[in-house]
Amino acid sequence: MAKKCFLLLLALVLYLIHSQSTNAQSQNKISPIDLDALLQIKNTLVDIAISTSPHFFSSWDFDSSDPCSSFAGVTCSSSEQSRRVYSLVLGTGLSDSPGLTGTLSPSIVNLTELTQLVLFAGIVTGPIPLQLGSLKKLRVISLTNNRLTGAIPESIFTLPDLHTLDLSHNQLSGTIPVTLFALNQLKVLVLASNRISGQLPSGFPQQLLHLDFSQNNISGMLPQWMPSSLRYLSASQNRMWGALNCLELISELVYLDLSMNHFSGGLPASLFQPKLNSMLLQRNNLSGGLPPLPPYLYGPGSIIDLSHNFLTGELTQVLVGVESLFLNNNQLTGTVPKEYFESVSLGRTKTLYLQHNYITGYPTAAVSSSSLPRDTVAVCLSYNCMVVPAVVGLMECPGGVGGQISRPAYQCSAFHNKSTISLKKEDHINI
Ligand SMILES: *[C@@H]1O[C@H](CO)[C@@H](O)[C@H](O)[C@H]1NC(C)=O
Ligand SMILES: *[C@@H]1O[C@H](CO)[C@@H](O)[C@H](O)[C@H]1NC(C)=O
Ligand SMILES: *[C@@H]1O[C@H](CO)[C@@H](O)[C@H](O)[C@H]1NC(C)=O
Ligand SMILES: *[C@@H]1O[C@H](CO)[C@@H](O)[C@H](O)[C@H]1NC(C)=O
Repeated sequence: MAKKCFLLLLALVLYLIHSQSTNAQSQNKISPIDLDALLQIKNTLVDIAISTSPHFFSSWDFDSSDPCSSFAGVTCSSSEQSRRVYSLVLGTGLSDSPGLTGTLSPSIVNLTELTQLVLFAGIVTGPIPLQLGSLKKLRVISLTNNRLTGAIPESIFTLPDLHTLDLSHNQLSGTIPVTLFALNQLKVLVLASNRISGQLPSGFPQQLLHLDFSQNNISGMLPQWMPSSLRYLSASQNRMWGALNCLELISELVYLDLSMNHFSGGLPASLFQPKLNSMLLQRNNLSGGLPPLPPYLYGPGSIIDLSHNFLTGELTQVLVGVESLFLNNNQLTGTVPKEYFESVSLGRTKTLYLQHNYITGYPTAAVSSSSLPRDTVAVCLSYNCMVVPAVVGLMECPGGVGGQISRPAYQCSAFHNKSTISLKKEDHINI
């Protein structure tokens, strides 16, 4: 009786162990659709063969291992039925890895639970799968530093949960669709260094923090309403024009790069605040003067580049203390306030580029061999309407040593005559 009872118990225990293990097995099993999609994805991509570097696909063994637990870059959700891929990171991302080559399989669109798709730097070519935007749960798409071509699928710009879209450093073309405006989870949009053309949509999502579409072929103006939450904005190296007043309401900005475009008009005074400690507006068509504001406490690392524009008037104190200050190649006049040189002496300002303007004077006492730490700073004053002190000529400036020459006198008198005449005209009009 006891023996029979024991056998019964053993059978029960064995049954329980068995049923639990089959249960565990079914829980571990990846959905057949996702398995097939991973197979297709691997079929069109391959590690760039360099023997010494780790190969990304070496763990992708479809015969003997379970993708969810052993494939590099694959992360699955556990669900009652079957496991689904929710994150796919292609490539090792290691700095010594040359990355992947091949194309992105359209089968990615069968990974319908995907929330994150990352492709690390490599030489993957071809288009972004057209139906990628049907993966409604995608929050992060980062396909950077490859050679993807074709237009950005419009469907991506309708993904309801999209938080980060980074497609920078590819060869993508086409335009940015207006539907972008409605992406109310989007925080980071990086399309830098592609071949995107056309104009920007008339608005960006209001919660956007980081916007970079530098080095493209975008024309037209910035939208009238830029997101007030924006912290980082780069539109450098496009073909954009128009005034900058649309930036007046962005109070959170810490980085602004609109260099190498055709922006025109004056500098909004609201841009001059220490939080915005990288302001790169060089090589545009900006005019008008610097705002007549007192010095702010620009911190270490601050950089302001307004060079190669058409700025006029006298140098005000607003930029005293900026670590790297480029005001060269404008039409500035008057004398340089002594505070700029004091800031150099104190080691706060390390670069002060004022060359190629119409400046007529500088505080002689502040610019002497004893007061400027000339080995560690660059103060450039050449090609202005004044005699440049010899000490400054020893510093590293464009044109090298001996480049600290003055502007020819006829240019100076013609320019100053012209500005007096136009001033007189304006006076006359005002009366
Ligand atoms: C998605 O999966 C279905 C079912 O397995 C298959 O018929 C279809 O071809 C797949 N789609 C792509 C784009 O691979
Ligand atoms: C730039 O965009 C314009 C249209 O806005 C187009 O005509 C031109 O071909 C584009 N240039 C390049 C290099 O793509
Ligand atoms: C630059 O500004 C000047 C006037 O200051 C104007 O004549 C010229 O057309 C502008 N150029 C561009 C490319 O906007
Ligand atoms: C500038 O004006 C002065 C006197 O007002 C005149 O002597 C000089 O020739 C003018 N220079 C030029 C280049 O027009």
